[in-house]
Amino acid sequence: MKKILTFNVNGEVREVLVDGTETLLFVLREGLNLKGTKEGCGRGDCGACTVLLNGKPVNSCLVLAMTINGMDITTIEGLEKDGELHPIQKAFIDNGAVQCGYCTPGMILTTKSLLEENSKPSDEEIKHYFEGNLCRCTGYASIMRAVKSLI
Ligand code: FES
Ligand code: FES
Repeated sequence: MKKILTFNVNGEVREVLVDGTETLLFVLREGLNLKGTKEGCGRGDCGACTVLLNGKPVNSCLVLAMTINGMDITTIEGLEKDGELHPIQKAFIDNGAVQCGYCTPGMILTTKSLLEENSKPSDEEIKHYFEGNLCRCTGYASIMRAVKSLI
């Protein structure tokens, strides 16, 4: 069954016709052409597809699009303002926390949510918060440096 949903993406109200089987990840990438959200495992293991749903990180590959009517979604495209990268994006670049970049949108959105919840997280709290976000390139040290540079 198809249904028209209305939700807010990066501050803009969008209306999209979705099928009952479509995921939020599919709707963002294929329906709205927001390709910054990545598909890795497609089953909730890697965090590459992380977006913020009402401010909290979710694996968009596990969220059925039908459930998001009226909600607020932030993707990586929503962070840049007036051509300026967000401070978290700058911190990742400055600290060498981006290699292939596949995990980076999810890492950055997870960082945003963490720092909004807890502006002074300990190393253990940072590690715990990032348990659902995998990176195959950096070994995580540069990601830790980037997050800590924002505290
Ligand atoms: S693609 Fe969603 S968790 Fe891996
Ligand atoms: S930078 Fe390549 S997976 Fe993280």
